[in-house]
Amino acid sequence: MKITHFHPEPIESLPFLNAGTGILPYFEDRLSVHHAIVDQLPDGLSAIVVTADLQGRESVPGTASLPARLLGEVMPQLLIERVFPLLDLEDPSRVAAFLAGDFYTLPGLEKRGGTGDVSSVWQAFSDHFAWVAGVAGNHDLFGPKQETRPERHPSMHYLDGDVVELAGLRIGGIGGIIGSPLKPQRRDESNYFQTLERILSQKVDVLITHDGPCGTEAGQRGDFRIRDTLEQHAPRLVIRGHKHWPHPLAQFSSGLQVLNVDKRVVILTK
Ligand SMILES: [Fe+2]
Repeated sequence: MKITHFHPEPIESLPFLNAGTGILPYFEDRLSVHHAIVDQLPDGLSAIVVTADLQGRESVPGTASLPARLLGEVMPQLLIERVFPLLDLEDPSRVAAFLAGDFYTLPGLEKRGGTGDVSSVWQAFSDHFAWVAGVAGNHDLFGPKQETRPERHPSMHYLDGDVVELAGLRIGGIGGIIGSPLKPQRRDESNYFQTLERILSQKVDVLITHDGPCGTEAGQRGDFRIRDTLEQHAPRLVIRGHKHWPHPLAQFSSGLQVLNVDKRVVILTK
C-alpha cells in the first residue's frame, strides 16, 4: 500500500478535552482529520481510518460531574457523523482501522501521561468498523486486570511481534517503546530489533509501530536505527505515533513512507 496524495489541509477539526499542564485545568483542544489517497485498499473496503495518541476525552459541555468517555471511544461515531459524509463514505462496515497506540487519559484530565485501560477504544473501533488492527502505546493497558494485551476478538487484530493477512493485505505490528522490560509495553533494545527483523522478514505491506522511525525533515523526530532497519527491508508504508510531527508524512527515496498519526486521524481512500 502506497500513499499517492496527502491533502495537507485538514478536512475537519474535532473538539475534545485535553489534560491541563499544571497551571491550567483541562481545556478544549482540536483534533485534525486529514484525507490521503492510496494506490490500493484490501478487497471489500472503501477506507481505512488511521490514528494514534488520542490522549483526551470527549467534549460534552454540562457533564462535569461525570467522567467523559475517552476520545478514542467516541471517535468512530464522530467520524461516521461528521467526517464520512464529506468523503461520501456511506457504509462503516466497509471501513477498517489501524491503531498505533496511546489512547488513555486520566478521567479528571488533571495531568498528561496517565496509563490505563483502553479496551473501550479498541471495542468501539471494532464495533463500528469491519476490523481493527494495531499496537499498544506505552501508556495502554487492557481490562480491569490491567493486562498488556486485549482479550481475543474475531475483528480485533492486536499485533505485538505478529503479522496478520487481512483481505490480501499483510500487516505487521510492534507495540510500545524501547526501554526497561520491567515496565509494561517496553522491550529492551536487542529484543525490539530482533522482533522488528522477524516481522520484516515476513514481507509485510504495512507495519504499525508506536514509537518508530524518524522522518526526512527537521521536526520528524524518531529513531534513526529503526529507520535504517526499515530501509533495508523497505515495507511500503509504516504507521507510527508517540511523537508529534508538524508534517505527518515522510517520503524516503527508497520508497519507504512513514505516516505519523500522533494526535491526528488520517482517512485513507482510493
Ligand atoms: Fe507513547
